[in-house]
Amino acid sequence: MSSRIEWVGESCRLLRSIAEEYDSTQPFAGTTIGTGIHLEPKTVALLLTLRRGGARVVSTGNLNSTQPDAVAYLRERGVEVIGGPTTDEQEHDRHLRTVLEAQPDLLLDNGGDLFLRWLEQPYPGLRGGTEETTSGRARLREHRDALGVPVLVINDSPIKQFAENRHAVGQSVFESFLRITNRATNGRRVTVFGYGACGKGVAANFRNAGSLVSVVETDPVLRLEASFDGFAVPSRSAALSGADVVVTVTGARDVVTVADLALLRDDVVLLNGGHFPAEIDVAGISSDQSVKTVTEITDGITTVRLTDGRRVHLLTDGHMVNLAGPRPLGNSIESMDIGFALQARCLEAVAGGRVGAESIVVPVPRFIDEAVAEAYLAAG
Ligand SMILES: NC(=O)c1ccc[n+]([C@@H]2O[C@H](COP(=O)([O-])OP(=O)(O)OC[C@H]3O[C@@H](n4cnc5c(N)ncnc54)[C@H](O)[C@@H]3O)[C@@H](O)[C@H]2O)c1
Repeated sequence: MSSRIEWVGESCRLLRSIAEEYDSTQPFAGTTIGTGIHLEPKTVALLLTLRRGGARVVSTGNLNSTQPDAVAYLRERGVEVIGGPTTDEQEHDRHLRTVLEAQPDLLLDNGGDLFLRWLEQPYPGLRGGTEETTSGRARLREHRDALGVPVLVINDSPIKQFAENRHAVGQSVFESFLRITNRATNGRRVTVFGYGACGKGVAANFRNAGSLVSVVETDPVLRLEASFDGFAVPSRSAALSGADVVVTVTGARDVVTVADLALLRDDVVLLNGGHFPAEIDVAGISSDQSVKTVTEITDGITTVRLTDGRRVHLLTDGHMVNLAGPRPLGNSIESMDIGFALQARCLEAVAGGRVGAESIVVPVPRFIDEAVAEAYLAAG
């Protein structure tokens, strides 16, 4: 479906202007960039921007997320894509190692997979690179001394925190609820578990849509912040027993479990926006002895009917609701455009020696945050 790839590419205003600049500046001329990041329409725009900067780009996807049309589109435009969609960890491991066989000068990593394999078999000439995620930052931080090259962590940019985690996740989780359930939010009691960056956005979006939103948060300081932001902060059990909709966005496991079944109202909808499908114990809830039937009602909705007649609706089996289910689109193109502009500028800074060798697993440098913010605002 290349039309979606085109639409995304057209909508990435920052990447488009960076690519135009790169046509003349060629910051990656003679440089090989190895990437291990999801291969889908938004990353296509990033990888093609790096190509325009003169790089040889050798890429593979992540487990279970590679889109064949994105691979074909990239290959037609000179990006070397190793492998294709796979759910097999060993095959994925081979793909990552094949990327490293090209001995990239720069790595664009997602989850630490490439840098950690480089550490197993280091080759000379790696100049550094970027890491997209929090989980990758945690893995790589332990190996700072061994890494010895600059690694800039995109997730730790304040821009990424508010543009993606707060605003974009908030919007797309809310949009997913509407798209999957087609139910109104006005006057509904919505409980959000977690008041980190993502939870703040989710709570705000439901409130803006007329819901009565409460927040359950284990950190009392953030609970106080939620209260100052005007949300109710009831006890966990009061929140669960009053909710029409429950959203988890904590990054923790077993946030809502079978032990909570007794509290839930009839017709409650449970959904998760956190990374792992372990926040809502879907398996436990579906197999409890109080369950009469479990029915897949329609794409993305499973209804658990209890013997006392109450119904509990689970969206996308507890997987990230904005990336699973029918026609998932993920976070807004603009938020990804900003994140990928940070990626391009960080790789450029490493390639050009503008970040020192001591910048190992550190946040995006302030001068890059400022430049990307200025560029986005100037684009109007
Ligand atoms: N769906 C998406 O597109 C998307 C995008 C970015 C991040 N995420 C994921 O969303 C999750 C949250 O991300 P974040 O950036 O807001 O993290 P965060 O660490 O800023 O916030 C999580 C909050 O949850 C709270 N918490 C932990 N356990 C809890 C519990 N049992 N009950 C109530 N509160 C609890 C923590 O105290 C913390 O304040 C992570 O799993 C992250 O990977 C999803």
